[in-house]
Amino acid sequence: MLLFLDTANLEEIRAGARMGVIAGVTTNPTLLAREGVLDTEGHIKRIVEILPGPISVEVTATDTKGMIQEAVGVARWSEHVVVKIPTTPSGLEAMRLLKEQGIRVNATLIFSPNQALLAALAGATYVSIFLGRIDDISWDGLKVVRKTVELFQVQGIPSQVLAASVRHPLHVLEAARLGCPVVTMPFSVLQQMIKHPLTDIGLERFLADWRKLQAMREEARV
Ligand code: G3P
Repeated sequence: MLLFLDTANLEEIRAGARMGVIAGVTTNPTLLAREGVLDTEGHIKRIVEILPGPISVEVTATDTKGMIQEAVGVARWSEHVVVKIPTTPSGLEAMRLLKEQGIRVNATLIFSPNQALLAALAGATYVSIFLGRIDDISWDGLKVVRKTVELFQVQGIPSQVLAASVRHPLHVLEAARLGCPVVTMPFSVLQQMIKHPLTDIGLERFLADWRKLQAMREEARV
C-alpha cells in the first residue's frame, strides 16, 4: 500500500520524503490557501522536485469544458501531476474525456460507494473517499471505504481507493487493514503514527545506561 501526505506545506513534504515512507502528495484549494501559495504552478513543481511521486492538483472549474481545459494545463506542469476532479455529473464527463487523453484523474469529494463506482467507471485512477467528513456527520467513513474496497475487488475494478480526510492514526491503520491501497494524511497524523511514549522512555533509558557505561570505562582507565 502507499501513503501520501495531504498537504501543500513544503517543509512537511521534505520531512515526509526524508523518512522514505511517503509516496505522493494530495493538495486541494484549501491546502494551497493555507500556505498562501501565489504561484500554483511553481509551487507544484517544487513539490515534484522534493517528492517525484503522484501529486494531486485540483481544478476549480465546475463545468466539463472548463475542467478539461484546466486539467490539460495542469497536467502539462509535470508527468507526476494527477488532476483532482470533483465527482459531479460534469466531473464524470470530464473524467471520461481526460482518460481518453491519457491524463490521470483523482476523483474527489466522494462520500458513497456508488459515487466511487461511477468515478471508477468514468476512468479515474484514484477515487478519494473523505472518511473524516463522513464521520463528522455521524456516519461511518471506514464502512464506506470497506464497501468500496470490497466492490472494486469483487468486480476487478482497477481504480485505486484512496482514503482521504484522515483525522487520526486509527483511520490509517483501519483503512490499511481493510485493504485500501492508498491513504493520504496530514503531516500531524504521520507524526502521531511514529510517536510512542515507550519508544521515548526506552531510548532515554538506553542512553542513560550508555552514559553510565562510559563513566565506568573512564574510571577503569584511571
Ligand atoms: O485532500 C482532501 C481531504 O483529505 C480533505 O480533508 O480534513 O479537509 O476533510 P479534510
